[in-house]
Amino acid sequence: MIGVIGGSGLYGLEGVKVLERIRVRTPFGEPSSEIVLAQVEGGEVFFLSRHGEGHAYPPHRVPYKANLWAFRELGVKRVLALFAVGAVNRRFNPGDFVVVDDLIDFTKGREDTFYEGRASIPLEGQDKVAELLKRGKVVHIDTAQLYCPQMRKHLVQALEELGLSYHPSGVYACTQGPRFETPAEIRWIERAGGDVVGMTGYPEVVLARELTMCYAGLCVVTNPAAGIAGRRLTSEEVINLVKQKERDIGEVLRRFVASLPQERTCGCEQILEGAEV
Ligand code: HPA
Repeated sequence: MIGVIGGSGLYGLEGVKVLERIRVRTPFGEPSSEIVLAQVEGGEVFFLSRHGEGHAYPPHRVPYKANLWAFRELGVKRVLALFAVGAVNRRFNPGDFVVVDDLIDFTKGREDTFYEGRASIPLEGQDKVAELLKRGKVVHIDTAQLYCPQMRKHLVQALEELGLSYHPSGVYACTQGPRFETPAEIRWIERAGGDVVGMTGYPEVVLARELTMCYAGLCVVTNPAAGIAGRRLTSEEVINLVKQKERDIGEVLRRFVASLPQERTCGCEQILEGAEV
């Protein structure tokens, strides 16, 4: 099952049939929105809005753990995360899609693991995740390939077939927000190797990976990052750009769901093997 997480400007899915609206409670609190079961291309996906209805959760207060745990309880094995991002790389333009393949974390103090050692919540379940939590283990996951190669391949294929402007790879730099970055911070991120900048890519991806899920990030470039265009940045331009891209995002999703094989051939599922101390 695929779980889709919508970012800024995406609080629902365009042109899909809603089958069910589900409220989930988790040991980590309530997810940021109800979860919608929707029919897409003969398949079904769950959809969750990262910032919730009315954009209630700023990036640093998104209940990332509750969101991922809710997906786990619903049987989600693959997460497709959608993001609005600023372009740091000068080759990236507003309206472009980016299928990110690596990350730099510049956030501060966000809770970014389920495995708290002795302080872990011993949760029910029969799988490796539940076993490690019950045993109060410390876990270090590998992050050499955070984003699922199988999902990325099918996203790139969908973007290519639709003739959309896209970049098949890119490094996502995640800042703490909620303010936009300063021009000096963007120059620093550029030198560090960041291609796009956003505020919500972390810790979502590592939490999904800790639960052995596949995860892919599809970014829409909404603006040149701070200092690049030499003008003031507004939330309004970010949201407007995403709204303009809503139909394209829906098309990509339909093609992606239709082409992705059921079987996971990527190895993401095995991430916990050898990860405990
Ligand atoms: N910076 C951080 N987050 C963002 C941006 C940006 O320029 N654009 C959209 N989300």
